[in-house]
This record gives sequence, structure tokens and C-alpha cells, in this order.
Amino acid sequence: MAAKATLKFGGQEIELGVEEGTEGEKAIDISGLRAQTGLITLDPGFANTGSCKSAITFIDGEKGILKYRGIPIEELAEKASFLETAYLLIYGRLPNKPELDSYVDEVTCHTMVHENIRRFYDGFPKKAHPMAVSAAVIGALATFYPDRQDPSGRRDAEGSIVRLLAKFPTIAANSYKYSIGQPFVYPKNRLNYCSNFLQMMFANPCAEYEPDPVVAKALDLLLILHADHEQNCSTSTVRLVGSSLSNLFASISAGISALWGSLHGGANQKVIEMLESIRDGEGSAAAFVEKSKKGDDTTRLMGFGHRVYKNYDPRARIIKKSCHQVLERLGIHSKLLEIATNLEEIVLNDDYFVQRNLYPNVDFYSGIIYQAIGIPKNMFTVLFAMGRLPGWVAHWMEMHEDPQFRIGRPRQIYTGEINKKFIPIDQR
Ligand code: ACO
Repeated sequence: MAAKATLKFGGQEIELGVEEGTEGEKAIDISGLRAQTGLITLDPGFANTGSCKSAITFIDGEKGILKYRGIPIEELAEKASFLETAYLLIYGRLPNKPELDSYVDEVTCHTMVHENIRRFYDGFPKKAHPMAVSAAVIGALATFYPDRQDPSGRRDAEGSIVRLLAKFPTIAANSYKYSIGQPFVYPKNRLNYCSNFLQMMFANPCAEYEPDPVVAKALDLLLILHADHEQNCSTSTVRLVGSSLSNLFASISAGISALWGSLHGGANQKVIEMLESIRDGEGSAAAFVEKSKKGDDTTRLMGFGHRVYKNYDPRARIIKKSCHQVLERLGIHSKLLEIATNLEEIVLNDDYFVQRNLYPNVDFYSGIIYQAIGIPKNMFTVLFAMGRLPGWVAHWMEMHEDPQFRIGRPRQIYTGEINKKFIPIDQR
């Protein structure tokens, strides 16, 4: 017999169904609550709300487990490539060799952007943040592919998805080139996904750039680790925007904007700025930790804490290891890594952080790798977005194929004034 929960309120007793996921998590189904009782549920920040059922990603925040389509992140990090992971997330299974080869070919042949898109950049101020530019240009792709936008048509959507995966690195690299006043570099389709991105970032018409396979591999790993994280802020944004039947480009553009914030993907840039300020003598690591305990949002320790993980973020563990390996392979001694390691040690032994289960998250060590491979700080979050793209897309697709699909529309408890009189302007 299916489990039930009983709710008693105002002399009424109602039974609510309990749903169980494949990994055993349970949820009370309150979708009929208002119709039966007039009550809604209140859950600021949605910390306790399941907005959908999803078969894409599983997280056990207490145990520090992350799986894409049932496969542990540690295994994917070791054995898969980013485009293979993208295929897994979007199509729900690992591709076989011919499928992967043909997917990679398809993505590779769409890497160029329309010449008119290249002209958009001239309209942005030189100091424009590449996240703002990327969100704008990705949104603008909808104007170039107007007949590939029907969310109900899988074939249409698949055409748009391949274009997004293919063009995002080009759009991102262009935004960097524009900000430093260099000409855009066209994609080179003989290179793999990450090497191609690196050459668009670092080559110029006067100097070839031969991507280092170690660097390209490190970047590929980071993209895999960022590829999905179930109903986080940006993914929920993509779903919510898409739920009004907005097109894929508009939905992804909104996801990029949501990711930009410093409490979400923007934290990777903030972490490096924090470590640099410690390095530059604006306070020791210990002093920074003390300041961050004051409960003021502006002085939080960036790269620590997570809504879901109450244990070490498994991605941070992999990134930390990779960080040491990459720096060693490149022969780089990083003062920032030293500070970060010291900071982590202080935090993991500090009661405030221990009691609140605050551990390093995905953003804590990633910036040190980005910096070691020459990526400028304001591009860190763009790289996060590039990695998260397959996850956003997979959720957008899953939502549209869900038989329970409805427009996303939360309710509220109104706390404003009631029956206020309108006072004419000359009497106010
Ligand atoms: N530094 C200091 N204190 C913290 C931190 C932090 N980084 N994170 C949480 N806390 C404290 C809060 O002040 C709060 O303390 P209180 O109970 O005394 O009021 C308690 O821990 C719980 O914090 P909440 O804000 O309720 O946790 P929430 O789940 O809402 O926020 C978040 C999670 C936004 C990630 C938070 O931990 C944070 O701001 N971290 C720093 C920013 C960051 O690294 N963001 C990236 C997250 S990963 C990602 O999005 C890719």
C-alpha cells in the first residue's frame, strides 16, 4: 500500500500521498492541498520543496554523493569526456563509440557563429562583464534560429541544443577577446572541444597557440564536474522560464544570469578575489574566517557552504586533487593554493563552521586551476556556465516531456496593507 501522510487542521483531517524516489528519498505530495483545505505551503528559498520529479541527477548532501544518470561523479571524472557527459545527461544513457563520434562531429561542425553575431559585441562597453555579454548573445541566438524553438518538438530542440553546445565556447571566447581589444579568433574544428576554446581565447592573428593537452584535459574535467546539479538556482530558473513555453535560447540566457550571482556560480570569481586580498595583506586567513562568522552576507567565506551538501562537496574533493596535479605538471607554485589550503584547515577545525556543516564547495578550488591555465578572473563564471549547459538543457527537455508539465507559478502569503484608500496626489 502506498504510504500516506495525515494532516490535521481546523477540525479537518486529510490524507496526502507520499512519493518515493529510486534512491529512497520521500516527499509528501501537497499538489491537492489547497483544493482540499484552502492552505498553501510556505517555504522561503524552496529549501524544503521538490518542484518536480527528475531522473537526471541524484545528490545525497549528507553523505556527499553526486551521480549523473546513476553514475558516480568520481567515475565520470576519471573516465568520461565532457561531450560524452553532455550526451549522458541529455539522452539519459552513455553513447556507444559511433554515437559519440557522430555527436562530437555534429557539435564540432556548428562552432562558428553568424558574422552578424560577431558585430553585436561592438555595442557593449569594453568593461562589460563576459557573463552579461554571454547571456545577451545566447538570448540573441533565438533571432537566428526562429524555426528551431518549439519546445514540444524534440527534433527542433535537438538542433538548438547542438548549436548551443557548439557556439557557447565561441561566444564566450569572443567576449573575452572583445574585452581586451583583440580580434576574434575563429574556431578550429580539427581541435577537441576544450583545446578549441583555449585557442580561441589565447591565439591571435600574429601568434598561433598550441593548446597544451594537460590544460585541455584539466578544463574538460572542470566542465564535467559542473555539468549538472539538479534543481539549483540557475537550473530552476531555466525550468521556470521554459515552463511558460519560452524558447530554449531565452531559457538558457536566463540561467546564465541566475548563475552569475555571487551566492551561486559567481562565487568562483569571488573566491580568488578573497584569496588575493589575503595574499595582498588585507588580513590573514584567520582574520578573514573570523570576519565571515559575523552573519553578514557581504563577508561570507566564499567557496564554503552549500544548500544541499552538509558534507564535503564531492566535486571540491576532485577539483582539489586536480588542482595539485595540474599545478605540478605545469611547474607552477601557487601562493593562492597555499592560502586556500590553510584557510580550509582553519575552517574545518572551527566550531562555527563545524556546527553549520560548512565545507568547501565546487567553487573553492576551481579558480586556482583556471588561473593556473591563464583564464582571467571575469571568465571563471562563464566557464561554469559552459559546463552547466548540458544540465540546463537536460532539465529543459525533461520538463517538456513530463506528463505532469504545467507552467511554474508559486503562490505567496500576502502581508501587505488591506483596504487602503486612494489619496489624490494633491492631498498626499
Ligand atoms: N561563510 C560564513 N557563514 C556561512 C557561510 C559562509 N560561506 N555559508 C553559510 N553560512 C552560515 C549562515 O550565516 C547561517 O548561519 P546562522 O545559522 O547562524 O544564521 C548558516 O551558515 C546557514 O546558512 P544559509 O545562508 O541559511 O544557507 P543557505 O543554504 O541558504 O546558503 C549558500 C547556501 C548560499 C551557498 C551559502 O553557504 C553561501 O553564501 N556560501 C558562500 C557563497 C558560495 O560559495 N556560493 C557557491 C555555492 S555552490 C554553487 O552555487 C555552485
